[in-house]
Amino acid sequence: MLAGRHILLIVGGGIAAFKSLDLLRRLRDQGARVTPVLTRAGAEFVTPLSLSALAASKVYQDLFDLTDEAEMGHIELSRAADLIVVAPATADLMAKMAAGLANDLASTLLLATDKRVLIAPAMNVRMWQHPATQRNLATLQGDGVLVVGPDDGSMACGEFGPGRMAEVPDIIAAISSALSDGPLKGKHILVTSGPTHEPIDPVRYIANRSSGAQVTAIARALAGLGATVTFVTGPADVPPPDGVQVVHVQTAAQMLQAVQSAAPADAAIFAAAVADWRVANAGASKIKKDAAGLPHLEFAENPDILATVSQMGAGRPPLVIGFAAETDDVIAHATAKRLRKGCDWIVANDVSPATGIMGGTENAVTLITDQGAESWPRMSKDAVAAQLAQRIAQVIA
Ligand code: C5P
Repeated sequence: MLAGRHILLIVGGGIAAFKSLDLLRRLRDQGARVTPVLTRAGAEFVTPLSLSALAASKVYQDLFDLTDEAEMGHIELSRAADLIVVAPATADLMAKMAAGLANDLASTLLLATDKRVLIAPAMNVRMWQHPATQRNLATLQGDGVLVVGPDDGSMACGEFGPGRMAEVPDIIAAISSALSDGPLKGKHILVTSGPTHEPIDPVRYIANRSSGAQVTAIARALAGLGATVTFVTGPADVPPPDGVQVVHVQTAAQMLQAVQSAAPADAAIFAAAVADWRVANAGASKIKKDAAGLPHLEFAENPDILATVSQMGAGRPPLVIGFAAETDDVIAHATAKRLRKGCDWIVANDVSPATGIMGGTENAVTLITDQGAESWPRMSKDAVAAQLAQRIAQVIA
């Protein structure tokens, strides 16, 4: 899949840079052409000679290197590749990208490019968890930057937690999916996932137990077939898949807005467990336990995102898919839901506790279309995802 593809590999300054040498070697093994760019801090960890030897290419380091400019200007360099990969992406590089700074070669290339960008963050756990880095991450994801990792584990600095750069095979998989020539290449698919959190006051909220496991597998499978996936997610337990554009939201209202601003799409899959109601009189400050007695919460109905998009007329995605988690009369309820919501397909499943499906690794789904109900055998959630992604590809590719 990578043969003949051209990757601009930006190596930032972190101890994980040693893994980028292996990444480069494996990309070349798979037939990719790699042009390395080494930041000043990156050169403290790996040498330009190692990179150029492994890439069999010149290493670009300095914005003001006139020889480079004569050979190939930085604008051209930023657009010559099929994909830009930043590995390791340090907290500093992420901050520069999020702010749109262009004060060295790497940041200038990242600002000037018209190609997709995939980052593999790597940093100390506290740096990763710092609100500033998390803010920058959300900004970058909102800008369409693809992210792989970081992983959890022990770090070179002796601490433990999220911040380790993703392993090389995972980065290769994310690169392959970003460059995929699969049947869904060029198609944009919108996916909602997770629960929503509806505030009661600034510290309390109403939530539900949706884990987002099945739809995360579906989004991963769609990206694997080459789709550009916008993954709008509430606070789910399962981390979002690699290689998709993630938009984090909290409430149903924010989810609807994110869905509307991500349009148009070739298909939309609504699997989020959206809260049916929000608190209409949510407190602006923390509700106190005091002599006034128990608080009275008033509820307002949330927008039904699936029904809104299914019935939107102009601009409606050609294929709209909803989910139905039922505990009895699964097919009858799901068939009625398809008509009520106005979507094309419903993926229905039986979530009675005896099935062990909720929170488990397997699923048994029935696909409801205008042709009727088709029950699939029980299989892993990944296998359900792969089969559904193939079906979607048959319809929209
Ligand atoms: O009505 P019910 O919640 O059973 O329908 C489930 C389907 O509708 C799922 O596809 C879910 O993502 C979608 N839904 C939605 N917005 C809501 C409620 C449900 O998109 N407010």
